[in-house]
Amino acid sequence: MNIQIRLARLNDAPEIGAIHETGINMIPAVTLQTAPFAEYETFVSSHGGDYPLYVAEVDGEIAAWACISPFSSMAGFRQTGEASWYVHPAFAGKGIGKKLAKHLIREAERAGILTNVVARIAASNEPSLRLARSLGFTDNPFGGTIKRAGLRFGEWVDVVFLNRPLGQEAKPEAESVTPTAERPSQLWSA
Ligand SMILES: CC(C)(COP(=O)(O)OP(=O)(O)OC[C@H]1O[C@@H](n2cnc3c(N)ncnc32)[C@H](O)[C@@H]1OP(=O)(O)O)[C@@H](O)C(=O)NCCC(=O)NCCS
Repeated sequence: MNIQIRLARLNDAPEIGAIHETGINMIPAVTLQTAPFAEYETFVSSHGGDYPLYVAEVDGEIAAWACISPFSSMAGFRQTGEASWYVHPAFAGKGIGKKLAKHLIREAERAGILTNVVARIAASNEPSLRLARSLGFTDNPFGGTIKRAGLRFGEWVDVVFLNRPLGQEAKPEAESVTPTAERPSQLWSA
């Protein structure tokens, strides 16, 4: 299988949206709040620089995407990013998610700007939790599980809050973190 990882382009938005929308259907206990496809263009264009969005192509077809989004819109927290990863069901379980997520973390570490990447994963989403933990994410000691973080069909959804510190090279004086006009995370349900 020939897997190529590259930065996302604006015209990838429909595939990225389709993978997201099928992906969240696979997550147990996640509210199916999806974005209109047009909004995925905003999502793609709001990434770049220190908050990259990558796609994995298998034989030229987009099979997965992963990104780091700003964790908070407050300028003081720009050094913390939030990771997301989604693999099309047709390509799940083939190592693509891990390869892509590893690339995401490795590149963030190499850039040396962000100090931490967090992930908020539904407590019932075992594949994603295992993936995160295999990459060095650990339960956040300050609040491992956000109880009753959301609702699905009248049932509370707990969300595990994980943290992955990045390399010690992160430069405190670096102020070059790309500002984003709009938080893409408002498109997300988990
Ligand atoms: C979670 C997801 C990204 C994993 O991607 P993938 O390409 O299928 O996973 P990989 O084949 O690369 O496996 C990576 C790791 O995930 C875990 N994993 C994958 N599928 C799993 C399953 N069905 N059950 C338990 N763990 C699983 C394993 O720990 C695996 O590592 P290992 O094989 O070394 O043990 C993918 O299942 C997905 O897109 N799910 C729906 C969307 C989603 O949940 N996104 C995350 C939102 S927080």
